[in-house]
Amino acid sequence: MGSRTFYIETFGCQMNERDSETISALLAQEGLEPSDDPKTADIIILNTCAVRESAEAKVWSRLGKLHALRRGNKPVFVLAGCMAQLPETLDRLKKKVPYVNVVSSPGNIHKIPELARRAGPGQNAKLLTAVSPPRISAARDESTQILPEGLPRMNIPGVSAFVTIMYGCDNFCSYCIVPFVRGPQVSRLPEDVIREARDLVKRGYKEITLLGQNVNAFGLDSGSPGTGGMGFAGLLKELNRIDGLHRIRYFTSHPRDFTKEMVQAVASCEKVCEHFHLPVQSGSDRILKAMNRGYTKSQYLDLTGYITETVPGASITTDIIIGFPGETEEDFQETLDVVRRVRFDGAFTFIFSPRKGTAAAKMKGQIPRSEKSERLQRLVDVQSEITLRRNKDMVGEQVEILVEERDPKDPNLWKGRTRTNKMVLAEAGPDSSLKGSLALVEIREAGIWYLKGQVKSVLVD
Ligand code: SAH
Ligand code: SF4
Ligand code: F3S
Repeated sequence: MGSRTFYIETFGCQMNERDSETISALLAQEGLEPSDDPKTADIIILNTCAVRESAEAKVWSRLGKLHALRRGNKPVFVLAGCMAQLPETLDRLKKKVPYVNVVSSPGNIHKIPELARRAGPGQNAKLLTAVSPPRISAARDESTQILPEGLPRMNIPGVSAFVTIMYGCDNFCSYCIVPFVRGPQVSRLPEDVIREARDLVKRGYKEITLLGQNVNAFGLDSGSPGTGGMGFAGLLKELNRIDGLHRIRYFTSHPRDFTKEMVQAVASCEKVCEHFHLPVQSGSDRILKAMNRGYTKSQYLDLTGYITETVPGASITTDIIIGFPGETEEDFQETLDVVRRVRFDGAFTFIFSPRKGTAAAKMKGQIPRSEKSERLQRLVDVQSEITLRRNKDMVGEQVEILVEERDPKDPNLWKGRTRTNKMVLAEAGPDSSLKGSLALVEIREAGIWYLKGQVKSVLVD
C-alpha cells in the first residue's frame, strides 16, 4: 500500500498561502505526503477566501468539480480558511454539500490533522468543525483567531518566504469581511518574528515578506499583551540586522497608520525594499469617510509625496474599489485624479462586492453592475497606460533582481523581481544556474506585466 497523501488548494491572499504551508507541514508530520493529484489524495483541503462574492463562487464551483473527479472511496474533504468562519458557509455545507467532512477557520488550522483523522471519509458523515466564536462588532470580544507559536512550516528550499507578524484586523473598513472572519488584531511578539526570520535565513531564504492586514499597526493592539512597545519601524530595524538576509518586504500597509518615521525606517534599512503597496480604495473624501478608512485624499497625496521624496526610486502600488454604494461620477473622477497624480506603478482594481454582515452591504445607493464595470474599464485603461509608461522609463537602467526560477517556457530566461517588485525575465544562457541569486540586469524591453533584460553580473550567489 502506498503512503497516504493530501492535496491542498489555496485561494485568496498571502495570509492564506502562509497558512497553507502550516497545514501542509502539520499533515506531513502525521506521515501524509503532499500530492498534486486530487483524484488519488486521501485528504483534499481547500483553503478559502471570502473577500468578494467571486472568491466564494470559485470555491463552491471547485468543490463540486473536485468531488466529481473522485472515483471509489471518497477522500476526507476539508474546507479551511476565511469562508469557514462564516455562518452562511456552514448552513450551505449542511444543506447542500454533504461530502465536506471538516471545517476549520484560520485560527484553528492546527486542529485539521486531528479532525481529518476523526472524520472518516464519505458522504453524510457528521460535519466536524473548528471555528472561533463569531465576531459581530468592532468591540473586543472572544473571537481571537491566533495560532499557537511553534507550528511547523514546510521545509521546501526556496528563495522568498512569508512571515506572519500579526493576526486579524481591527479596522472595520465598512466594505470588508476580513475583521469578521479573521478576528481582532493580535501582533506576534517581536522575538518570535525575529526567530522565524533567522530560521528562514538558515534554511537559505534570501527574502522575507512580512504579513498582516495592517502591518503599520504592528504592536498597537487594543486588547492583547502587545509587543513591549515595539512598533513597525522598530521591527524593520531589528530584522534589517539579520546577517544573510537580503530583502525585506511587507504587506499590507494602511495609509492612515503609515507614519513618517516608518517611511524613514524604510529609507534607512538597506534590506527593506523600496516598494510601497498602499491601498487607496477611493480618491473621494466622501467615499473614504463612508468606507471608514480614516484619511482624506490630500492626506494620502501628502504621504505618497513624502515617500517619493524620502525613498529615491520607490515604487508605489495600490488597491482600488469601484462602485462603492453612493459613488457618483464626480467621486469616480476624484479616484482617477489620484491615479494620475500619484502615477502608481500598478493597481489591483476591484468591483465592490457587498458582503453580508458588513456595513456597506446595507448602505443605500448600491450601483448597478453595468455601471461598476464601465467605471472599472475606464480606470484600468488609465492605469495601464501609466504602468506601461513607468516600466518603459526603466529601459536602459541596471537593476538588481532576486532570481526565483527558470522561465518554464524558455530555458534562456530567468524570472525574478526587482526591489520595487517588478517582474523581470532576464536572459543568461541555458547553462547558467541563477536560482536564488541576486543578479544585476540591464532592462531592454518593457510591457505592462513584466520587463525583459540581460544579466550583466551576479551580485550574490
Ligand atoms: N488589509 C488589506 C487588504 C484587504 S483585502 C488592506 O487593508 O488593504 C484586499 C483588497 O480587497 C482590499 O484592499 C480592497 O481593495 C479589496 N476588497 C476588500 N473588500 C472588498 C469588497 N467587499 N468588494 C470589493 N473589493 C474588496
Ligand atoms: Fe479589510 Fe480594512 Fe482590515 Fe484591510 S484594513 S483587512 S480593508 S478592514
Ligand atoms: Fe481572502 Fe481571508 Fe485573505 S478573506 S483576502 S483569504 S484574509
